[in-house]
Amino acid sequence: MASILIVDDEKNIRTHLTTYVHGLGHTAEAVADGPAALAALGRAEFDVVFSDVRMAGMDGLALLREIRRQRPDAVVVLMTAYATVAQAVEAMRAGAYDYLVKPFSLDHAGLLLARVLEVQTLKRENRRLRRAVDEPVLLESASPLMLRALDTARQAAGSDVTVLLTGESGTGKNVLASAIHGWSPRQRGAFVTVACTTLAEHLLESELFGHVKGAFTGAWKDKPGRLEAAEHGTVFLDEVGDLPLELQGKLLRFLEQHRFERVGGGETITVDARVLAATNRDLEADVAAGRFREDLFFRLNVITIRLPALRERPEDLPALIDHVLATLCSRHRRPALSLAPEARRALHAYRWPGNVRELVNTLERAVVLSRGDVIQGDDLPDRLLAPDAGTATPEAAAATPLSLHELERRHIEQVLADAATLEEAAARLGINVTTLWRKRKRYGIE
Ligand SMILES: Nc1ncnc2c1ncn2[C@@H]1O[C@H](COP(=O)(O)OP(=O)(O)OP(=O)(O)O)[C@@H](O)[C@H]1O
Ligand SMILES: [Mg+2]
Repeated sequence: MASILIVDDEKNIRTHLTTYVHGLGHTAEAVADGPAALAALGRAEFDVVFSDVRMAGMDGLALLREIRRQRPDAVVVLMTAYATVAQAVEAMRAGAYDYLVKPFSLDHAGLLLARVLEVQTLKRENRRLRRAVDEPVLLESASPLMLRALDTARQAAGSDVTVLLTGESGTGKNVLASAIHGWSPRQRGAFVTVACTTLAEHLLESELFGHVKGAFTGAWKDKPGRLEAAEHGTVFLDEVGDLPLELQGKLLRFLEQHRFERVGGGETITVDARVLAATNRDLEADVAAGRFREDLFFRLNVITIRLPALRERPEDLPALIDHVLATLCSRHRRPALSLAPEARRALHAYRWPGNVRELVNTLERAVVLSRGDVIQGDDLPDRLLAPDAGTATPEAAAATPLSLHELERRHIEQVLADAATLEEAAARLGINVTTLWRKRKRYGIE
């Protein structure tokens, strides 16, 4: 089922086309002029736009140009009663997908629509296949630290070794895990993420390994776990440092033998899945403290890739900013925005404690707030414009360096004090609420 926007000042055409399109099983919205069409496009997604050419005010060609400016991949079909070669050429040059000469039969319109939708489906399919590697993420770098991480990741992708991704929150561990899957021979298999933090222990065990009917209250039928869903693909154990000790042994056995039992089940299940894991905790410290099994640590840690913090790779800031900005503009259907020199300076000077996630959130806010084509300094949050931007307190910038933990603790404390809600603080820090909640607990911040 597709959704179609019909733009025509003639009521008859609107009614007939709408009824016909509904009959084909699609949804349709009909409007009478260009401005109404643009408003509709701002509200909802349409697969195809059929537009009249001769309309009072904004004509079809002007509308076409405006639509293409906002959404370069939109498909627009023009309908015109005054078919001249010159006009057809102009329409195609302005980016029309095709045109219909009035009066046209509805079947003719239907055929054209079917062809457009077929091409759309193919395009979407291609995009889906490529997405794992190249959609909104930038996996190029000018920083030696990041290049080393990317190189190791590409090499490791070729084999089935377990890779442990470490690095501060927001540095791109999830992004890199999915890229490794996309570069690997398992790219056609599923990429299954399991967040080891979020669930109560018995739920997490059942989420990972599945359960059989009657294993616990509420287990009213057999359910396969996420590991089984990753058969022939990759399973990504996110925040693996939070895995309860009781489950660590069971995971270790899976890593060694690819075998496990569902919760409450007797049958041994074998699954062929490659394991990637990530943590922003110091796992070695957890091992020393007895919170994490040493044998599991070694097993996960065959290859470790540490993602550098954003402030450790300032070389990448210009390209990342441009890349993220372009992605966000198209996501928010804004024409390409540029940065005023003052705004760019502030982005470069800031220390980005929340790393790439904080950068994305900051730019997204700016894209939404900015008026006109240029993002000004005012569109950035105050914390970026302060003279000690990015350091928690003035003394942090002074001679005695604080430990990273202390710096983080103070920064979180300060942001929490300023924010009205936990969600707001998390967004400002560029981390998710669960992570913030955990950090707050770890640092004993009320
Ligand atoms: N190379 C990149 N190009 C574009 N965006 C990126 C890149 N790396 C990270 N991001 C963006 O930054 C955000 C955080 O990335 P990600 O979730 O992978 O971080 P993380 O290290 O897993 O963080 P956490 O430890 O909090 O889970 C996401 O919105 C992601 O899209
Ligand atoms: Mg993550």
